[in-house]
Amino acid sequence: MADRLELMIPERRIRARVAVLARRIGADYRGRPLSLVVVLKGAAIFAADLMRRITIPFAIDFVAAASYGEAIRSSGKVTLSGLDGLDLAGRDILVIEDILDTGRTSAAIADRLRLCGPASLALCTLLRKPAAAALELPVAYVGFDIPDDFVVGYGMDYAERHRNLRGIHRFILDGR
Ligand code: IMP
Ligand code: MG
Repeated sequence: MADRLELMIPERRIRARVAVLARRIGADYRGRPLSLVVVLKGAAIFAADLMRRITIPFAIDFVAAASYGEAIRSSGKVTLSGLDGLDLAGRDILVIEDILDTGRTSAAIADRLRLCGPASLALCTLLRKPAAAALELPVAYVGFDIPDDFVVGYGMDYAERHRNLRGIHRFILDGR
C-alpha cells in the first residue's frame, strides 16, 4: 500500500485567506518599519504569495529552522540558522511560519529574535494545530486552525517531498 494524500484546503481557499491576512498586515503596520522574517523552508511559498499581496513597504530576512528530519513527529530539538548578523534593532518584526505544531520552533525563534532589540515581535502562521493554540506565543495572524493531522503541500513536506502541491493535503503514512 502506498502513502495517501487527501485534499484538506484547496488552492482557492488558501489564496483568499492569504489576501485577507495581507490586507490586515498592511493596515496594522502602516507607517511602521516592518521586517518580515521568513522561516525556511516550509514558509517559502506562503511568504512569496503573502509578500506580493502586501502593499506597504517592508524588508525581508530569511532564517532556517529544522526539527523533524524524516519523521512526522517533531524531534523536539530545534536547529536554527541564519540568525547571526540580522539587523533588526528597532524594527517591527513579523515572523512568517508555515505551521505551528508544538510551537517549539516558533518559541525558539522568538526568543532569539528578541535579542535583536526589535520595536515589536509578532508571528504570522499559515496553519496552527491544537497544541500550539494553547501556548503563550505572540501569534497575531493565523491562516487556518487545523486538526492534529500531518499535512503536506504549499511548501510543507514529508521528508522533502510534496512541497510543490498547490493545495494543502492530509498525509497518511502507509499502513496507518
Ligand atoms: P513545532 O516546533 O512542533 O511547532 O513544529 C514546527 C515545524 O515543524 C514547522 O515549521 C514545520 O516545518 C514542521 N511541521 C509541523 N507540523 C507539520 C506538518 O503537519 N507537516 C509538515 N511539516 C510540519
Ligand atoms: Mg519541515
